[in-house]
Amino acid sequence: MKQPEDWDREIRMPLASDADASPAVVEFSLTAAVTKVDADPDGSEVTHWAYNGAVPGPMLRARVGDRVRVYFHNQLPEPTTIHWHGLEVPAAMDGADPEHHAVAPGERFEYEFVVPHAGTYWYHPHMNSAAQVWRGLYGALIVDPADAEAAAEAALGAEAVLILSDVSVEAGKLEELDPDDLLAAFFGHQGKLLQVNGRTLPTLRVRAGVALRLRFINAAISRYFRLGAEGQKLTRIAGDSGFISQPEPRESILLVPGERTEVVLVPEGEVGRVFLVESLPYDRMICGGSCETSASPLLRVEIVETGGEAQALPTTLAEIEAIDLSGAVEHTIAMTQDERNGDGAFGLNHQLYPEAPFSLNASVGETHVWTIDNQTDYDHPFHLHGFRFQVLDQDGKKPALAEWKDTLNLPRHSKARIATRFDDRPGMWMLHCHILGHAELGMMGMLHLSSSGEAEHAH
Ligand code: C2O
Ligand code: CU
Repeated sequence: MKQPEDWDREIRMPLASDADASPAVVEFSLTAAVTKVDADPDGSEVTHWAYNGAVPGPMLRARVGDRVRVYFHNQLPEPTTIHWHGLEVPAAMDGADPEHHAVAPGERFEYEFVVPHAGTYWYHPHMNSAAQVWRGLYGALIVDPADAEAAAEAALGAEAVLILSDVSVEAGKLEELDPDDLLAAFFGHQGKLLQVNGRTLPTLRVRAGVALRLRFINAAISRYFRLGAEGQKLTRIAGDSGFISQPEPRESILLVPGERTEVVLVPEGEVGRVFLVESLPYDRMICGGSCETSASPLLRVEIVETGGEAQALPTTLAEIEAIDLSGAVEHTIAMTQDERNGDGAFGLNHQLYPEAPFSLNASVGETHVWTIDNQTDYDHPFHLHGFRFQVLDQDGKKPALAEWKDTLNLPRHSKARIATRFDDRPGMWMLHCHILGHAELGMMGMLHLSSSGEAEHAH
């Protein structure tokens, strides 16, 4: 049994159309420009920076193994890039290295890469990124499994992609981030209005008893969301990059900036019942007084029909083999509290981006185990570009389930060990805190990955 027609009307995002006829190639066009966008809650127009005139930008969708080509045109008044968060693209397509990959105002760039893993991903700029993402430049990129597996996924229910963010609009204007306000960057600037796909408290109209698959993306520049659903059961099924090993019943799920989670929710209740999907309080220790102390509503779910019968979820969602750690190279990366010209800053091993960034060398084919050691008094979401990783332990405890991640919260004064294997995509890769103001204050470093030949040469 299905969800009612138009059940997701209030949150549906434009889907980018595929301009290429061949089945294994998808071609999209994205233009970033200063645009007026209908802003919630009152529907007045507010000037944003947007991809294809919409906030969020259009949803891009491809299948595992597809070649994705994106014709990008920068019509913004400043340089930008597109970074494909969580995707294993070649370094030259990662949109992360401003020195080589900045797309100047008026210029075009063609991104091209193959998508190897199903999952919920997203795209955003990687230059002046706190300000650019804040102004509206973000969108979803969903990679669907190849045909055979796709049928099995149908049991997981009707799907909604939900990009969470926050904004502040005053007197018809989007609040501007003040680049000189280093304290705001240190706190991690938060908007006053919580948004789902650019809407404030939208409503889903659903049938009770039928599974909903909700794919959440945290695109906020600083805000943590701790997801809960009033009186309803949440079952987590996927993380940053595809299914977790088994369905995991949860009371709430912390979703930090950059991170993704997928849940199955089977709405329960009679016609007319309304419940909220909300963000529950979470203290990342540094919100400048703006951390929530009570639940904030994100989404209304209204039961408009009953009579559904949910199918049981499979007991195994994915076979995730543990990374072979033999011969692994070990490093420790400390998240540090530092100073720059007397102002508070954050660094990696006390090194500050951009003037003296932390850097690390690796060779293609190596497996690395990194201890991420958060020595600061605040939480930070650690993100590695280009390579997904497995968490070996966090504060000495092995995770309950196997999964692939690219963004991991490090609570204050805690440690985690992660493992990753570097496949044949040499180049420069960034790693940073995904509170974008923190990355700009210095908590960003570089991984220089050389092809094994080059490395042998150097020895
Ligand atoms: Cu989503 Cu380097 O970022
Ligand atoms: Cu941080």
